[in-house]
Amino acid sequence: MTKVPVVTIDGPSGTGKGTIAALVAQRLGWHTLDSGALYRVLGLAAGRAGVDLDDGEAVAEIAAALPLDFAGGRVLLAGEDITDAIRAESAGMAASRVAVHGPVRAALLDWQRAAARAPGLVADGRDMGTVVFPDAQVKVFLTASAEERARRRHKQLKGKGTDASLADLLKDIQARDERDRNRAVAPLRAAPGALELDTTALSIEEVGDLVLAAVRRGAPDLVG
Ligand code: DC
Repeated sequence: MTKVPVVTIDGPSGTGKGTIAALVAQRLGWHTLDSGALYRVLGLAAGRAGVDLDDGEAVAEIAAALPLDFAGGRVLLAGEDITDAIRAESAGMAASRVAVHGPVRAALLDWQRAAARAPGLVADGRDMGTVVFPDAQVKVFLTASAEERARRRHKQLKGKGTDASLADLLKDIQARDERDRNRAVAPLRAAPGALELDTTALSIEEVGDLVLAAVRRGAPDLVG
């Protein structure tokens, strides 16, 4: 069996990983994996089941039997469309809490690796290049200042008609960064050899072009 090519895009929240992953995948005609969505769904499902999010074994049990479907760009949990619900700040925070547990991360590994299907995969998250796809052909690590990331989130929420406080968003981002970077299992880190890009002053198109150029350099035989 030939190995499916994988591009990993990791970084803290609000760096535009998901948007860039979608853009790059679209240009290459490849699949995407939004691994953060998995942790968000799990945070929501565990919360609804009344499970303590700090109880790793109990959350891992829910992870192992998650009735989850990605259909037509929508996220379904036991048939219920939760695409919008998992984008709430509270779901991001719950995701970050369940993501600290080793057994939870182990339970989600197969799910994530199964996403590597021909002709290729662009996977975004925190540990795509370090843990889930350590053999990926091309690895990217995106950063941006916390202030800029809070501003981007504020603008995005405003576009959806929600007026969140910039100061609260900044606090949330800093709390999630702290937890994601300092957890014992699969902490947020740039993979060795990853292309590190500070996107603070770059547009989505500029970042997309830089990532595509890296793919052309790293895997010239895979792209035209
Ligand atoms: O990318 P995101 O903001 O949707 O991710 C939500 C949370 O899920 C993030 O704060 C940490 C966790 N996460 C993780 O631990 N590992 C991943 N590969 C993706 C997300």
